[in-house]
Amino acid sequence: MIKHVVSSKQFLDKKLLKSLFAATARLQKLPPDQYPQTLKGRIIATLFYEPSTRTRLSFESAVLRLGGKLLSTENAAEVSSAVKGESLEDTIRTINGYADAIVLRHPEPGAADRASIVSDVPIINAGDGSGEHPTQALLDIYSIKQYKKKIDSLVIGLAGDLLNSRTLHSIIYILSIFDVELYLIAPKQFQLPEELLSYLREKSIPFHQVHDINDCLGKLDVIYINRLQMERHTAKFKGKAPTLTKQNIKLLKPDAIILNPLPRISEIEIEVDNDPRAVYFQQAKNGLFIRMALLNMLLGK
Ligand code: NCD
Repeated sequence: MIKHVVSSKQFLDKKLLKSLFAATARLQKLPPDQYPQTLKGRIIATLFYEPSTRTRLSFESAVLRLGGKLLSTENAAEVSSAVKGESLEDTIRTINGYADAIVLRHPEPGAADRASIVSDVPIINAGDGSGEHPTQALLDIYSIKQYKKKIDSLVIGLAGDLLNSRTLHSIIYILSIFDVELYLIAPKQFQLPEELLSYLREKSIPFHQVHDINDCLGKLDVIYINRLQMERHTAKFKGKAPTLTKQNIKLLKPDAIILNPLPRISEIEIEVDNDPRAVYFQQAKNGLFIRMALLNMLLGK
């Protein structure tokens, strides 16, 4: 039984994923006035120390759709007692008195883990710096399953700032329980951290490190691309940042899909949006239903 959601490594279980995805698909089919009111009488706190649009609003929508209520701090770095010097641990202990679960986004890797140690109510990691973003990985895997009907035997490209991107880190852990082949596409200095590379070797997942996205586009069933995480470093991309353009997506298979956790900055040209393989806005929509299913799993009566 999962209490806190800190890492996608807690979801390396096909049975667990299957039941979570089945619950997600069931919720997705219901008209909004028929959503189960499983969070009635519960209060969920969203405590965000970093900017967010999708993650916070989809969590908040999920809570409201399930009949729960919210305490929301969307700008915690500026307006919470962190400004006075309060530790994250003390803030979490305090919110334990006011809420039945805490959705936390924080700039420091490991913050959700630290919070979970002092929290009696569930902590849900909504992004801890360049660490992890487990609920994003769940909606990403769900989206792949939705469009490709399977995960096993897919060839998947992961492109962008592999070093600093928490969404890419979290999806890699979950992909490692499937029979996939990975293309890791990034300039050399933004390749995946050694820890994750050795994890892939340990799990015998075949992977190729590629610098030019055009060298592998034709081989992929899924291309998952993310923006450069400019807030996490000052380094400039040497060489070409992976980009999808109206021109190079011609190399993609006709039934490939294009994913992006969003926000999209310059890694996907706007013209690509009209291509039927570009499913990133649907992917973002799936976030609501995954988070409803997850909240039900953690807190539903
Ligand atoms: C991602 C994040 O915050 O890590 N956004 C999101 O939650 N959908 C991706 C990003 O900001 O690059």
